[in-house]
Amino acid sequence: MLIDRFNRRIDYLRISVTDKCDLRCTYCIPEGFTEFEKPANWLSFADIERVVGAFARLGVSRFRLTGGEPLLRKNLPELVARLARLPGVQDLSLTTNGTQLTHFAHQLRAAGLNRLNVSLDSLQRECVQTISGKDCFDKVINSLQVARKAGFEQIKINMVPLPGVNTDEIEDMVAFCIANGFILRLIEVMPMGISGRQQPYLNLLELIKNLQPKYHLHESNRDFGGGPAKYWESLDGSFTLGLITPRSQHFCATCNRVRMSVDGTLYLCLGQDQSLALKPLLTANCSNAELETAIKQAIDLKPEKHEFNERPEKIVRIMAKTGG
Ligand code: 5AD
Ligand code: SF4
Repeated sequence: MLIDRFNRRIDYLRISVTDKCDLRCTYCIPEGFTEFEKPANWLSFADIERVVGAFARLGVSRFRLTGGEPLLRKNLPELVARLARLPGVQDLSLTTNGTQLTHFAHQLRAAGLNRLNVSLDSLQRECVQTISGKDCFDKVINSLQVARKAGFEQIKINMVPLPGVNTDEIEDMVAFCIANGFILRLIEVMPMGISGRQQPYLNLLELIKNLQPKYHLHESNRDFGGGPAKYWESLDGSFTLGLITPRSQHFCATCNRVRMSVDGTLYLCLGQDQSLALKPLLTANCSNAELETAIKQAIDLKPEKHEFNERPEKIVRIMAKTGG
């Protein structure tokens, strides 16, 4: 088992398979950003498989593929199939912006993907375009329907409420998720890179005070993915709301995850710089034992907490680099 210095059990790895994206969400990738990782530095599928295998042997059972936009990585369903059959991989999920999902949903499901999170910040075509830089609303909505048909049962919608931009739509999004059986996750914007830093965030602890009586929400003990999101459920069970509150309420004490970027660097915290590069080991064809030792050393570097409020200027990495 992987236990860090603060007695947190690490059972979840998020893997960024590309830092590229076809969108430019205002809080994520800055306009004109060009510092994407060179393909020569990407981990191959075989490398990723080795790393996931090593984490699984160390007791990590949940894995998520992210980006950037993970479906921009060629042959992603092949990677899913390779990871899904590794011993110890119990839960394999994907976070996507949904622009390409219509084409891939069935293949991903057949390859063994368990769960899907789709980012959607608005139900207004123009607002989606304003936030993401592209007129992709129809594609994303269509993707959601196709994903359902492909057999994904638990689909989560990620929405980042941005004051003055889409916060007036939160209740519309609640209604949309109730009507379609999606779980809604609201995320406070994090000051990652210049793009995240310049955005005000909506305090979700304040918001829930209004939503709670209206939708008869109660805090849920059910496990919706093992993360630090706090889940609320309606009395009749028809609606589940997840709140991710890195700004208004620290949840670092229950953090269970680490992240790997496309070049094989393990990042131990979204808001801190500690990291360990696995690529040199993989390139040198290290043994499984050496890989596992390096992972344990990385876990020892995991910091106690982020400092998004105290030092918002600290993290120069944008979310697409670290793996959102
Ligand atoms: N703060 C919070 N969430 C972010 N995401 C991207 N950048 C940020 C940020 N600065 C989210 C996206 C997507 C997920 C992958 O990460 O909304 O749902
Ligand atoms: Fe792309 Fe997701 Fe970042 Fe938007 S938030 S630019 S969809 S990686």
